[in-house]
Amino acid sequence: MLSKIDVQKFNTLIEINSLINSSNQDIHALLTRILDSATRLCGGEASSLLLVDKDAGELYFEVALGSKGQEVKKFTVKMGEGIAGWVAEHNKSIIVNDVINDRRHLKTISKQIDYPSKTMLAVPMRIQGDCIGVIEVLNKKDGKDFVQDDLEWLEIFANQAALAIINIQNIEQARTEIRKLQDELKTGRKFHTLVAKSPLIMEKLEIIDRVAKTDSSVLILGESGVGKELFAEQIHLRSPRSREPFIRVNCAALPEGLLESELFGHVKGAFTSAVSNRQGRFELADRGTIFLDEIGDLPLPLQAKLLRVIQEKTFEKLGSNTSVTVNVRILAATNKDIETQVEKGEFRSDLYYRLNVLPLYIPPLRQRPEDIPDLAAFFLKKFMGDTKKQFDGFSNEAMEAMLSYSWPGNIRELENCVERACVISKNKWIQREDLFLETSSHLPEQDGNRNLKTAINTFKRYFIKKVLEENNWNQTGAARALDIQRTYLSRLIRELDIGLAR
Ligand SMILES: Nc1ncnc2c1ncn2[C@@H]1O[C@H](COP(=O)(O)OP(=O)(O)O)[C@@H](O)[C@H]1O
Ligand SMILES: [Mg+2]
Repeated sequence: MLSKIDVQKFNTLIEINSLINSSNQDIHALLTRILDSATRLCGGEASSLLLVDKDAGELYFEVALGSKGQEVKKFTVKMGEGIAGWVAEHNKSIIVNDVINDRRHLKTISKQIDYPSKTMLAVPMRIQGDCIGVIEVLNKKDGKDFVQDDLEWLEIFANQAALAIINIQNIEQARTEIRKLQDELKTGRKFHTLVAKSPLIMEKLEIIDRVAKTDSSVLILGESGVGKELFAEQIHLRSPRSREPFIRVNCAALPEGLLESELFGHVKGAFTSAVSNRQGRFELADRGTIFLDEIGDLPLPLQAKLLRVIQEKTFEKLGSNTSVTVNVRILAATNKDIETQVEKGEFRSDLYYRLNVLPLYIPPLRQRPEDIPDLAAFFLKKFMGDTKKQFDGFSNEAMEAMLSYSWPGNIRELENCVERACVISKNKWIQREDLFLETSSHLPEQDGNRNLKTAINTFKRYFIKKVLEENNWNQTGAARALDIQRTYLSRLIRELDIGLAR
């Protein structure tokens, strides 16, 4: 028959199992929880969970509970040293009910924290048979001895803890793999082709040639979609660092905590899921260039850390107090009004001045229409490859429409526009209608109207009109092409106010 305490133990195990399986991946909290339950259910006063650091040949205290828990955490023990070290080395569980007289007992720690150990259980945590850590429970309550049953239960809890660790390691490993693949994709990804013809841009490229030779930070400014990242690439490619890494970081893409570890790396144990050391982007960029995109979104605490990297070339990884020194050239970009951010106190002025040693402003596309024909041709070629369709080029009207359009979304918008034309056009030459530029000029982006329904109706109106034109305004033919009922088409014509006159 199960005793009341056994039922409690089973229930606790079930709870822990579901925690291990849950998506909440705070491993430190989970291990603390496991250790706490184990201690309580074995009737101990204090306990520790130590993890093996193979490289250092020692064990460190990941969790320590009891009145002196905090103090214990400062210590490490060598493999083979003390009872925990013995358990780790021999990969065996033990009960020691006369700790003081046990020759394995490490007197130094209990002396220094003034916590006498009398009785003790110590069991290994194993992953595939290997001991990865040790759980110790100290001082059975009421002066009693620990018994075999306690030990067996503790082994079960130690298994749970090992499972939780395997679980988090697998997740962490998968994340690292994904990051590596992403990095490979990015670094293996060739640099972009920069299409440039306008005097304005040629002038910028001349400046870049000169700037590239120096190690100064460059702040690249300009509206969204003007190609800031491509200019950053050019600075790197034309610099003496061109054979070294070019590392991109989007400062807006990650929350503060993750961004800090992404930029500066962390050491094992820095935070709860940090089960191994990790290099940050600054280290990866050593000897090369780092490109900090959307720098205006860098949280203030990280701005301070970045400032120090610029000034002293050093930083500390998360959870470490050893300084890392790097030789990295810093490029940054933003489409925000960073001066206003400085005025509002959202961006550190000292960092701004440091970054802004060489500001580089990339003008919007509407100020350099000379670039449009080459860019359009470049994107057309690219998307012909992607869509396996063939076009001879743009009709004169199409080119005129592109030249007179204001491109609020700059080159990114032009790229999207050509892609869309490539997908929908049935002509040999891309026609003005294929570009939907008239549409865009009434579109929400222009007048600040962001209403989706209006945008959809505008598109519908143009699209239906286009299909009607292709069918010589024959509604039956157009309805067939649109794959809708003729009656529905005439209703749409009425509702969308599509003029039937040519
Ligand atoms: N001069 C250019 N030549 C070719 N492609 C360009 C050029 N400028 C921008 N692009 C393309 O336009 C898109 C937006 O560029 P990006 O550098 O991301 O803009 P930003 O960072 O300024 O918002 C990208 O797909 C980029 O490849
Ligand atoms: Mg960008």
